[in-house]
Amino acid sequence: MFKSLSALFTLALMSASLPAGAQQAARYGLGRAPTPQEIAAWDIDVRPDGHGLKIGKGTVAQGQKIYDAQCASCHGTFGESNRYMPIAGGVRKDDLQTGRASMLRQSDGLRTLGTKLNYATTLWDYIFRAMPWTNPQSLSVDETYAVTAYMLHLNEIVAGDYELNEKTLLTVQMPNRNGFTTAHGLGRVNGRPDAQGSLCMKACAKEVTIASEMPEFALNQNGNLAQQKRPLGPMRGIDTARYDVGKTGTSTAPTAAASHPSDLLTRHACTSCHGMTSKIIGPGFNEIAAKYEGRADAKVYLSKKMREGGQGVWGAIPMPPQAGLKENDADTIAHWLAAGAK
Ligand code: HEC
Ligand code: HEC
Repeated sequence: MFKSLSALFTLALMSASLPAGAQQAARYGLGRAPTPQEIAAWDIDVRPDGHGLKIGKGTVAQGQKIYDAQCASCHGTFGESNRYMPIAGGVRKDDLQTGRASMLRQSDGLRTLGTKLNYATTLWDYIFRAMPWTNPQSLSVDETYAVTAYMLHLNEIVAGDYELNEKTLLTVQMPNRNGFTTAHGLGRVNGRPDAQGSLCMKACAKEVTIASEMPEFALNQNGNLAQQKRPLGPMRGIDTARYDVGKTGTSTAPTAAASHPSDLLTRHACTSCHGMTSKIIGPGFNEIAAKYEGRADAKVYLSKKMREGGQGVWGAIPMPPQAGLKENDADTIAHWLAAGAK
């Protein structure tokens, strides 16, 4: 009893006097306390209310230069490219008044950062943290203000002579600022909210069925969830491996040794997104080979997927259709992959 009380007392003393990292170092005898600079380098989040924003400024015109040089290749000159997701478009005049992007009422409504976001601070945070895709966190604070201003302008939210800074950013009225609700389930407008907050007191269900609301294409993104459950308590994971795309296709089993199609891979710039043995934007070719090893329809499926593109097997980023890839060249690559990508 005394022992544990004194331990508690020591802990309380430590919490009062040492930063979190130092406490851990002392407790486990591992590592060292992070420096304030190291913590500051990680601590870059900006909240909707602007907490965490850095002081700086940038204009639409400055942003356009940065955008054209560093962003347009992927997002299109006017943010219209649908290669990943369109950045601009869909905002209607009335939306700025109502705060609801009316485009989203259409089932095929254009989802852009103009029609989706409720806070401009989120846009700033995202760009500062994650873009450009191939070189995240390379933009300075001022550059981030400038390119954010330009993106707001592309969405007709601010005028062409606008200057964005840590103060004006907080006053930007996003077209969908009133369009958010938590009154429905995640991912489905007519679904039930996750937590309803009321206790059942009578005539309650005897057994609860746990179901998944994830779209099928997303189910097996991270491998079989059932196998990833730790053996503690009841096994609730579902066998997501069942949802593999193309599993029931037909055709030729992979055959033995195939020669390395390296010239095809470089000619079609596949290697800018796929490493031979590592993930870049898409999975490493070795990972692809391992995933489809022994699958009877691998060759047919992979050849088709390369030419038509697709999304959701390895993550949310789409594989663009490889329109320039001839069918027999795609077959050659697929054959090599199905044979182990050696
Ligand atoms: C090499 C391609 C590439 C470049 C260059 C690039 N992006 Fe992106 N961008 C992407 C991809 C891919 C996504 C989707 C990422 C995800 O969903 O995880 C994205 C998403 C975004 C989004 C979120 C859009 C949404 O609706 O959720 C913003 C904003 C954005 N990029 C801004 C920028 C800015 C600003 C630059 C230039 C400084 C830039 N991007 C350069 C590939 C790129
Ligand atoms: C702009 C980036 C990009 C380029 C260029 C690209 N890929 Fe991909 N690739 C991806 C992404 C991202 C995925 C993951 C797609 C998914 O999750 O379905 C992918 C997936 C694949 C897959 C696995 C498909 C599956 O369903 O598991 C194969 C095979 C593939 N790519 C081959 C190629 C070949 C061959 C080329 C060149 C002709 C190429 N890729 C060019 C981004 C790219």
